[in-house]
Amino acid sequence: MKALISRALPEEALAIARTAADLEIWPGEVPPPREALLEIVADCDGLLCLLTDRVDFALLDRAPRLRVVSQMAVGYDNIDIAACTSRGIRVGNTPGVLTETTADLAFALLMAAARRVTEAERYLRSGSWQTWSPMLLTGPDIHHATLGIVGLGRIGYEMARRARGFEMRILYTNRTRNEAAERDFGAERVNLDTLLRESDFVSIHTPLSPETRHLIGAPELAKMKPTAVFVNTARGPVVDQRALYEALRDREIAAAGIDVFEVEPLPMDDPLLTLDNVVLLPHIGSASIATRTKMAVLAANNLVSGLKGEPLPHPVN
Ligand code: NAP
Ligand code: GLV
Repeated sequence: MKALISRALPEEALAIARTAADLEIWPGEVPPPREALLEIVADCDGLLCLLTDRVDFALLDRAPRLRVVSQMAVGYDNIDIAACTSRGIRVGNTPGVLTETTADLAFALLMAAARRVTEAERYLRSGSWQTWSPMLLTGPDIHHATLGIVGLGRIGYEMARRARGFEMRILYTNRTRNEAAERDFGAERVNLDTLLRESDFVSIHTPLSPETRHLIGAPELAKMKPTAVFVNTARGPVVDQRALYEALRDREIAAAGIDVFEVEPLPMDDPLLTLDNVVLLPHIGSASIATRTKMAVLAANNLVSGLKGEPLPHPVN
């Protein structure tokens, strides 16, 4: 059997994948161009892909032998799951192993945006620092503030745990109740409107779906406090990025920390780059060495199980 691995992975993961297939590994740091991807999958039984690879009907049409698509990520909005299911192609992802690492980064963004860490560093590096000054580069307190978590699942739960360490009050929205978060951290389930109005910090942790696309737009941002700090480590299109830019520019909200964008990589002429009150990161939520290695190993195990016709360790469909 043959499998495409759409980017170089840790050897530990490749060794697992090699037990079930001959591998074609796309070299280099950037994703395979669409045409190359379509060409290579044509005789593949398995595909281990990243969130940068679009798996849709057009790709599946070109890959008649494909029996498994293994995504090295928990989010799988780049994959047409229904199309895969209709062709009997199994899809796997990598939940759980990245949960705490991603929550760490979300909390780091929350703190950096609130306490103006990157802005202050730019200030120092530019030679602007003259003296200690009473109100220089001041921001809101994090401890004892209210955090609103939109989508309290695995990562949202770990975000709540971190927030409790700072003695924050926790509000959340979810379609279903999260009793564990209510019991463990005193999280209060409220509707989105209440969450936006009452929170000092709002952090997004939903998957991207038709229901969550532009869940946060101009009307939602307008409901937030002018002192609020907004964090998105979920997916860019959950937020109307133009509306976010305008809200930050017009100080309708105080600051934001953003790891994910509507277009990635963020184009260098994006207006967000002109603002001081936003911390921008290149989609590194799960980027610890240990976690990325665990994700690659899990994705390899999903691939191997799919190739062998066995149940996937982490199936999506
Ligand atoms: P999860 O456990 O499935 O949690 C997602 C939560 O969102 C669930 O509790 C779900 O609960 C809720 N939700 C879904 N639709 C909703 C809606 N319309 N309104 C409100 N809540 C909704 O997933 P996870 O493992 O925490 O990961 C969440 C997302 O984070 C991933 O899908 C991925 O896109 C993103 N992520 C990003 C990075 C990064 O590098 N920046 C890393 C990892 C993950 P209900 O279904 O009950 O509503
Ligand atoms: C990263 O964004 C993931 O979904 O794992």
